[in-house]
Amino acid sequence: MKEPLILAVESSCDDTSVAVLRGRRLLSCVLNGQRVHEEYGGVVPELASRAHLQQIVPVASVAVRRSGLTLDAVLDELDAVAFTEGPGLVGSLLVGLSFAKGLSLATGAPLIGVNHLSGHMLAPFIWEGDGAPPSIDFPYVTLLVSGGHTMIARVSGFNRVDVLSETIDDAAGEAFDKCAMLLGLGYPGGPVVDRLAAGGDPEAFHFAHPMRGERNFSFSGLKTSFLYLVRDRMASDSHFIERRVNDLCASLQRTVVEILLEKLDRVMRDAGVRRVALGGGVSANSGLRAGAERLAQRRGWELYLPELRFTTDNAAMIGIAGYFKYLAGEFTDPSAAALPRGPAF
Ligand code: KG4
Ligand code: ZN
Repeated sequence: MKEPLILAVESSCDDTSVAVLRGRRLLSCVLNGQRVHEEYGGVVPELASRAHLQQIVPVASVAVRRSGLTLDAVLDELDAVAFTEGPGLVGSLLVGLSFAKGLSLATGAPLIGVNHLSGHMLAPFIWEGDGAPPSIDFPYVTLLVSGGHTMIARVSGFNRVDVLSETIDDAAGEAFDKCAMLLGLGYPGGPVVDRLAAGGDPEAFHFAHPMRGERNFSFSGLKTSFLYLVRDRMASDSHFIERRVNDLCASLQRTVVEILLEKLDRVMRDAGVRRVALGGGVSANSGLRAGAERLAQRRGWELYLPELRFTTDNAAMIGIAGYFKYLAGEFTDPSAAALPRGPAF
């Protein structure tokens, strides 16, 4: 059987991305991050959808060019158009959805709506064509940590997901971003904290570790205790942040990683599974990756980490989720709407 040719679109937040896949093999993935939000300290939804609108066609044409196929060949052969149905910002989702619908109408290729979170959960299994494709042995437990979501789920099939634990307030990425903003490190702050943490003492400061021993996560207490510590120290030393930024970042990172891995360890005790995957923007964090590797080794788990470039939002992960839906014959009606709270898994 000839493997299907799939074009995938991701536009749920502030990254415009298009990927081309032949079956599970990724032929190309192009991503254009939006810098327009930096000066606002967070994503501005209206600016995000306008930027998607400007970028989607150029990003798609570069993705087609880099796939090694001609535009005519792609239009001729296309078997499906996968797109992020949700969760995400409604205006941003609409741009990807409309582009996907247009392409589907023009080529006759059916639509496949993908849950953005299913995409993150499959990111460790993206195959760029070297060697054999990484095998996916279900079930596995996934720790999904991004700017908008923090959860641990049991994945028993490409779209069979049971959420076992989730945040009751902020996401892990949000905790990094908000604390980083307080230190004047810009947005998104997670990657900057990661870099600065390398030169700091992770035990220099101790912050709240809320809901210890419970199943769900909470990050708002950590954020408040970080804020109070910085505010109190600044009152007596106006150069406190400048002098201790590395220690602050290292201590913040240690605390977030401890919170995440402690919950993962707790959930894994009852999950009856020995395979663990990480996904989402925060799974790029060097402290989390190293900590997860140590824990996996200690517990005898098999650990799947996504390539760094597939940790944050990208269309390759939507493509692989779309491929599995294609195999199962799960297509989406052309009347599909953007679903800001996300479709069911
Ligand atoms: O998955 P993603 O691109 O978007 C959402 O679906 O939310 O995740 C973005 C989040 C941001 O909060 C960003 O600060 C965080 O991932 N992030 C990191 C790192 N790289 C990205 N957080 C900590 N350390 C990193 N290296
Ligand atoms: Zn995401």
